[in-house]
Amino acid sequence: MPSMLPGAPWLLAHKSMLAVNQPRKLSLHGNDYVMWKDETGTVQALPNACPHMGAMLSEGWCDVVEDGSSQVVCPFHALPFDAQGCTVLPGKKQKTLPQLQPLALVIQGDFIWSYGGYEPEVPIPTRLKEIADTYDFIGHTADTSVATDLLTLLLNMHDYNHQNGTHRHLFQITEVQFHQFIDQGHQSHAFYDMPTAAYTWTEKLRKPDLFLLPDTIKAHLENHFPSLVIFHGETSLGKVAQCHLFVPEAEYRTRTYILLFGQARHPAFKVLGSSYLKFGKVVVEQDVDILSKLYSNTPQKIKLNNEVGMDWVKRNFANFPAVVEPNLSRGDRPQVDNCI
Ligand code: FES
Ligand SMILES: [Fe+2]
Repeated sequence: MPSMLPGAPWLLAHKSMLAVNQPRKLSLHGNDYVMWKDETGTVQALPNACPHMGAMLSEGWCDVVEDGSSQVVCPFHALPFDAQGCTVLPGKKQKTLPQLQPLALVIQGDFIWSYGGYEPEVPIPTRLKEIADTYDFIGHTADTSVATDLLTLLLNMHDYNHQNGTHRHLFQITEVQFHQFIDQGHQSHAFYDMPTAAYTWTEKLRKPDLFLLPDTIKAHLENHFPSLVIFHGETSLGKVAQCHLFVPEAEYRTRTYILLFGQARHPAFKVLGSSYLKFGKVVVEQDVDILSKLYSNTPQKIKLNNEVGMDWVKRNFANFPAVVEPNLSRGDRPQVDNCI
């Protein structure tokens, strides 16, 4: 049965994903909201249906008020709504009582979290904030609303065997060498290596992004159930933390996007930021493509090795919000703490 795990925190956006005074539609737990950022950087969110005649507020615009804050204006009859959902009716001087209930947000630096109005059952991970404090923000990409349920999308992200199928053409991955899984309850780490078939120099010169690809991609996935997976990658030029976010928009619609952070070891690293973003975009496109080509009710008769990440997702999903005694650790590498 699909579930959107009420009580979990979801990262709705990084502030860079909102243009100043430009309303944006966001969905969470089957509800649509309008979110906007004023020129002081303050972010607000209201239900998206105008309480007059139901127009989408996200299709409207923002009016700036004296203190630099802004209100969202309905595109149908131009009623303005402030952050509390109050409006001023034509011919009146007084604001009305709130006509819309704001969506409660938890702002952590540039990160905009929300429990979607549910009682919090698990804490907001602090890890993204730590990464933002120690890495440079490169950008966001691949903001995609996928026609699938949350569990299916999470299983795909924790399926270590799909790299040489779904993502074969991008990276020419020949096999997945699984090394270790560390189960820490709602957190976990997975380590695996993916040797890549060599591209020729001609291919590389035609597509210079390919110079970024090492002979072996060393993957370290740091997982924070259910909303966040961080892919840690390393090249001689620098380190990247590619953060994959998940948002349950509705039972059968799940949003994903990537926030990319980097730590340069070489000045050339900065120039390569957009190439990393491009890779991220292709990876998500390939995942979305395969997810649209599954018979989702097929009973699983075959189990491959190293499906431990998916076992971890299934266990946490079934027991949410309870954290089960970790029992899935395995592998051959020394223990690490949360950092690399
Ligand atoms: S529908 Fe929004 S002002 Fe009329
Ligand atoms: Fe994938």
